[in-house]
Amino acid sequence: MLASMRTALLLSLALHGTIYTAALPIFHDVQTVLSEGRRDTKVLILGGGVAGVTAARTLHEQGIDDFIIIEARHELGGRMMSHAFGAAGKHWTVEVGANWVQGTQTGDGPANPIWELAKKHNVSLRSSHDFMSVETYDDSGAFDFQDVFRQSIENFRSLTATAGARVPNQLVDMSARSGYALSGARPSSRYEMASEYYQFDWEFGATPEETSWLASSWAHNHTFKTFSPENLLSVDERGFKALIQAEADEFLSEGQVRLNATVSAIFTSRKGVVVMLSDGTTVSADHALCTFSLGVLQHDDVRFIPPLPIWKQEAIHSMAMGTYTKVFMQFPEKFWFDTEVHLSNAIFSTRILHELTRTALQMALYADHERGRYPVWQTLDHPDIFPGCGILFTTVTGTFSQRIESMTDAAVQAEILSVLRSMFPNASIPEPLDFYFQRWYSDPLFRGSYSNWPANFLSEHQGNLRANVDKRLWFAGEATSKKWFGKLSVSTFQKMVNKLNR
Ligand SMILES: Cc1cc2nc3c(=O)[nH]c(=O)nc-3n(C[C@H](O)[C@H](O)[C@H](O)COP(=O)(O)OP(=O)(O)OC[C@H]3O[C@@H](n4cnc5c(N)ncnc54)[C@H](O)[C@@H]3O)c2cc1C
Ligand SMILES: *[C@@H]1O[C@H](CO)[C@@H](O)[C@H](O)[C@H]1NC(C)=O
Ligand SMILES: *[C@@H]1O[C@H](CO)[C@@H](O)[C@H](O)[C@H]1NC(C)=O
Ligand SMILES: *[C@@H]1O[C@H](CO)[C@@H](O)[C@H](O)[C@H]1NC(C)=O
Ligand SMILES: *[C@@H]1O[C@H](CO)[C@@H](O)[C@H](O)[C@H]1NC(C)=O
Repeated sequence: MLASMRTALLLSLALHGTIYTAALPIFHDVQTVLSEGRRDTKVLILGGGVAGVTAARTLHEQGIDDFIIIEARHELGGRMMSHAFGAAGKHWTVEVGANWVQGTQTGDGPANPIWELAKKHNVSLRSSHDFMSVETYDDSGAFDFQDVFRQSIENFRSLTATAGARVPNQLVDMSARSGYALSGARPSSRYEMASEYYQFDWEFGATPEETSWLASSWAHNHTFKTFSPENLLSVDERGFKALIQAEADEFLSEGQVRLNATVSAIFTSRKGVVVMLSDGTTVSADHALCTFSLGVLQHDDVRFIPPLPIWKQEAIHSMAMGTYTKVFMQFPEKFWFDTEVHLSNAIFSTRILHELTRTALQMALYADHERGRYPVWQTLDHPDIFPGCGILFTTVTGTFSQRIESMTDAAVQAEILSVLRSMFPNASIPEPLDFYFQRWYSDPLFRGSYSNWPANFLSEHQGNLRANVDKRLWFAGEATSKKWFGKLSVSTFQKMVNKLNR
């Protein structure tokens, strides 16, 4: 106890010291504490999202149960985050974070482990097979630009195919914008830009300018070619997070999780790791696994003492964090999108065509004069989702997300209502009953939605982003996955487990 208080005091000094040299002697003191052998646990898992929980499961399966998950929020799940939305008596569970199982399984090929978890825990999913079928609008109302939209699907296909042809030269990466141009797509009208946005920004949470051509193509293929082209939407009342919370309930015992515990500093030495929480208490361990989002690492929300090595900092600041914001509105009555699909929209296989003829549309695309201004609209008031819920939402990304995060809810709502009134000039649109969006970029626990691979991010940076420091401080989480960055994924943590078992 005494040692623990002393460490806390020393760490506070280290944190408040303005120059790092002041922290150096303290660092040696913590090393002394560590070399005295005081350990609260063997492994500290920092963050209780999908990565933290699957790391804990891996350790448990390896017979290592001496670990503690430290999570700032009141529950596990991280960016699998649901929200009880709607007016009194009209509440529905909406997903402000992850919502789709992206790719399932083709034949007996590789299965998406997230899909396996969803099946195991009976998460209620709906097919979004009409993903590539939208109702189109501009600021004068419904406006048919289906031909431009169909061309954008072809342009994206061509972008990923031509990237594949460049694989032998993979050292020469370029932005997806260059890739589009080289494969012949040069959008100039607002209809072309809105259509391209739907294929690209709406998936990556960033623009083609900001994104690697090769990595975006690989990422797309690893999900939709390796597994399957399917996108399954969670409509589970427990929230999509039930998938990972139910999994955690199977093997975690009470002492293995600390909720409402925010990490403010991480002290690493060759002997071990000491973590300081925002209430000033410390926890020590042989190892720590940091699963905080890339955005958290980029914004210095957590102090690393000593500072992370330069190669690590370079990796952290070379990868990018995108933002993806869903703005939810509930209205007394549905006034949007046709309920019947136009057959002319159906362009795929006869199987899908058959399904489309009996499926109401879930999506609409709005072409504003400004690229990225409230372009994608989705209804949850749909026979397959939550019929009668009155909920509609629009998605914005990147700098537009940052822009609306800095505005008041009332200002964002007014702007969105004016867009809706231009899309539906003949409808009388009332004030919404409820309005909500998650401010991912400003949130110190996330600082964005998911990572995005820019053209200047090299494979070596990727390796360094995952690499450990002093074989004591390990890194995991969405951004560290080479194949599934930006997505839900699970990892085997083999290197860390090998080290622990030695
Ligand atoms: C809006 C949005 C939509 C998405 N849509 C999809 C989708 O449809 N399909 C898909 O596959 N993926 C989607 N994703 C991506 C997916 O949600 C993430 O890749 C995944 O959830 C990341 O898991 P993680 O464990 O790596 O990180 P996180 O979930 O961020 O877990 C890290 C945890 O660390 C905690 N933490 C942070 N700082 C501290 C601190 N200082 N102290 C203590 N705890 C801290 C956080 O609270 C969090 O719980 C979406 C993400 C967002 C935000
Ligand atoms: C965490 O904090 C919330 C309130 O913010 C509280 O309801 C909950 O009981 C706390 N949980 C724990 C485990 O401390
Ligand atoms: C699975 O969920 C469905 C509805 O979402 C429910 O009807 C069914 O009883 C559930 N099954 C199990 C085993 O929990
Ligand atoms: C992606 O898959 C397509 C179709 O299978 C293939 O033509 C293309 O080369 C792949 N792209 C990359 C970058 O691997
Ligand atoms: C709106 O109403 C006017 C006049 O009744 C009609 O001419 C027009 O086609 C309608 N527009 C839409 C988008 O329904």
